[in-house]
Amino acid sequence: MDSIYIYGGNFLRGETKIQGSKNAVLPILAASLLVRGTCVIKNCPRIADVYLMQNLLQELGCFVSWAGNTVTVNAFHVNDRRISGESVTRMRSSVMLLGAALGRLGEATMAYPGGCVIGRRPIDIHLSALRKMGVEIEEQEQLFTAKAKRLHGAEIRLPFPSVGATENVVLAAVTADGTTVLENAAKEPEIEALCGFLTAAGAEIEGTGKNCIKIKGVERLHDAKYEVPADRIVAGTYLTAALAAGGSIFLEGAPAGQMGALLAAAEKMGACVTAGVEGIGVDVIRKLKALPYLKTEVHPGFPTDLQSPLMAALSIAQGQSVIEESIFENRFRIVDDLKKMGADIEVVKNKAYINGVEKLEGAGVEAEELRGGAALVVAGLAAEGKSVVRNRHFIERGYENICKDLRNLGADINIM
Ligand code: UD1
Repeated sequence: MDSIYIYGGNFLRGETKIQGSKNAVLPILAASLLVRGTCVIKNCPRIADVYLMQNLLQELGCFVSWAGNTVTVNAFHVNDRRISGESVTRMRSSVMLLGAALGRLGEATMAYPGGCVIGRRPIDIHLSALRKMGVEIEEQEQLFTAKAKRLHGAEIRLPFPSVGATENVVLAAVTADGTTVLENAAKEPEIEALCGFLTAAGAEIEGTGKNCIKIKGVERLHDAKYEVPADRIVAGTYLTAALAAGGSIFLEGAPAGQMGALLAAAEKMGACVTAGVEGIGVDVIRKLKALPYLKTEVHPGFPTDLQSPLMAALSIAQGQSVIEESIFENRFRIVDDLKKMGADIEVVKNKAYINGVEKLEGAGVEAEELRGGAALVVAGLAAEGKSVVRNRHFIERGYENICKDLRNLGADINIM
């Protein structure tokens, strides 16, 4: 029922258009809470995590409507300060609502956010940064309450450039009193998208994409329209599918400028990549080479979200690859399933040693989280025979229509 069926072993050929970015749209939807008016957000992917964020906004009193892939949020009347319920525990990015609710209401009570099972994922960096802006936090067992009599600008240095903490500080700072200077900020492209949306709504932000962001608080934000950029992780997943299965594909709208680390890895493996403003073309005509060493890093380094999909491709590359995971400690959960398909992988602490095998064989496997689940689909496309990836709901948290997209690329793949 909740499965994806794949008949693998065929080359991929064709083109597909890349959906809007999940990690960009979630903080943008949270940001719409700061606008006493209407925000129109185009190119919004219809994925489970977006629907969870929609539920949370509606619980707070916002009106949310869809037309195709355009979402309109009206946050004129916000009547609740409690951000709780199942949606919060199911999705880590619900924590984005904290900065936005503090900016709008000066107070929020929230359940501790959940999300993928890829590591501890605490929110200590978020909370200590917000404390510097005048926020008092009272922690209870399941919930915490954050209150600010007066939310004010501050000089903050993050101990680690956390994506979520950077977004929360920006959200809290745009309508705070005074200026916030955020050092050691994350530089992920999704932060530029959030700042692009907030600037369209009247915020004053300098230095996005750099490690020091300066935010001058404004009195209020106004109505805004914004188009969500293409999803670099979805594009990267399909690119790894071509690396694994071989063939010749074009990813329309893929944001090549944000994908340098993956494109460099693909070229090192022997793929031919053409990247331009229209998208990315990939040709894989011979067996690819292993990558002697690859480490996941903050942007512009190799993204942790593409580590598992690339591992699936490396499992049939020639030679030994070593991947070091430096962002999330629990991101090798797919190894047992890849082994079930014939892969030869050994994990020692945060390093995976992948000895490329001749081929993978189809098997029944189980998605346990979003990107790992997508990686099993990549493996299934390369494997000979039938694979069944169960728990597709994890994959649907981030991929609008993975089966249709991959069918556009010639894959034999369906949901059941
Ligand atoms: C975001 C992305 C996720 C991506 C990750 C890293 C969204 C919705 N999710 O997640 O897809 O994999 O960036 O690029 O955009 N940490 C702490 N304390 C904190 C915050 C983070 O210890 O308060 C740790 C985390 O446990 C993790 C590391 O810092 O080990 C990176 O986390 P962070 O950059 O915050 O990632 P997310 O915003 O959760």
